Amino acid sequence: MTLPLSNSIRAQDAKHVVHPHTNLRTQPEAEPLVITRGEGIYVIDDAGNRYLEAAAGLWCASLGFGNARIAEVAAKMLTEIGYYHIFRGAANAPAAELSAKLSAIAPEGFDHVLLQCSGSEANDTAIKLVWYYWDAKGAPQRRKIISREQSYHGTSTITSCLTGKPKFHTGYGLPFDGFLYTAMPYYYRNARPGESEQDYSTRLADELEEMILAEGPETIAAFWAEPLLGSGGAIVPPDGYYEKIQAVLAKYDILFVADEVICGFARTGEMWGSQTYGMRPDMITCAKALSAAMQPISAVLIGERVFEQMKVQSDRFGSFTHGYTYAGHPVAAAVALEVLKIYEEMDLVGHVKALEPGFLAGFEALKDHPLVGDSGGVGLIGAVEIVADKETRAMHPPELKVMQIFEERASRNGLITRIIGNRIALSPPQIITAAEVEEMFARLRRALDETAQAIAG
Ligand SMILES: Cc1ncc(COP(=O)(O)O)c(C=O)c1O
Repeated sequence: MTLPLSNSIRAQDAKHVVHPHTNLRTQPEAEPLVITRGEGIYVIDDAGNRYLEAAAGLWCASLGFGNARIAEVAAKMLTEIGYYHIFRGAANAPAAELSAKLSAIAPEGFDHVLLQCSGSEANDTAIKLVWYYWDAKGAPQRRKIISREQSYHGTSTITSCLTGKPKFHTGYGLPFDGFLYTAMPYYYRNARPGESEQDYSTRLADELEEMILAEGPETIAAFWAEPLLGSGGAIVPPDGYYEKIQAVLAKYDILFVADEVICGFARTGEMWGSQTYGMRPDMITCAKALSAAMQPISAVLIGERVFEQMKVQSDRFGSFTHGYTYAGHPVAAAVALEVLKIYEEMDLVGHVKALEPGFLAGFEALKDHPLVGDSGGVGLIGAVEIVADKETRAMHPPELKVMQIFEERASRNGLITRIIGNRIALSPPQIITAAEVEEMFARLRRALDETAQAIAG
């Protein structure tokens, strides 16, 4: 039994901790959620309340919360070495074994692994590699990078620019020039009446091509995409989307980077979202489930086309001038390696595939709910969209605070989800069982029923 967080610790938190994605004016007065323990897919707060954590923290805790086996691996590595780097050719066993394992489970052709510490770092580094590539190829004017509206790729200075959500730019004087945003693939809300998924995908690919031509193809370096938009609303791409987008990229010889920070490690039902959607990227960034979020570690998986040019740059400049002190950290790498072993033992991909029909049936069943418009997903990720009118798809007026009401009702029902605008995303830890999937949807329906009652007055 964990004791409630003492008042003095609460006071320290309120006074000293700068909380990300939080209103810093009102936060000190707010009651914080203090999660102190985990048991599988459940987390327990300091008052003893138990929640089914249907968001896996921040889309990351693939093995749930708390794990003695991982703790043992970390403790051993901390005791034996604690730290060593991989700069200037130094090697450590966990970083080497992890990189080999990642290459083995990556889509074919990703034999080179650059270990980093977070999803933002991985994308940030991949942007540098894109520029490095074009410089090596004698086309340094290729600087512009295209991502999608409402995409999320991190909040470092440069990845904030890559992120296609204006709220991450305002107040910081971002984005820098050269970051462009093409339309997000959001069939439910943005397709025209009567437009098929294939036709909508064609239109988006045409729009991308128009943007490239307007900017000048010789200035475009890369296109960036999460296989499935995660923080943009857990939105599944329409049929034909990547096939058509990739045809445009190939036509203008534009590099393609897949941000698999959420989708990697079977979230979408294959090991990589790229495999689920037939994407053929030049680089893949991954993090989160790479270590089941138990250590901060990420990776850039580099394809041969890019790596060849990185070697050319070493010929020219003498070395690869990039690296972070903690990149390839032996404790983080050992933990990630053990996590990948666990994935193999539990047949992670097979497990997610076996659960997928039940997971999708849960979304399908919610379509009859008066508050629910769009509802669906893939693998073990998906969302329901809350609407005021199922026909017109109109949203509730903001003053009704429907999503706030829902979040509070979900909490009372022992359920944590991820709210994005008027969407409720589910991405439970991948260790979830079929019975727990049912339990998750039962709690979600109860919370939706109570929300409907509350707003009906
Ligand atoms: C798709 C995607 N890319 C990048 C990031 C940034 O990762 P991090 O928060 O580890 O920097 C996130 C975080 O949620 C993400 O969802």
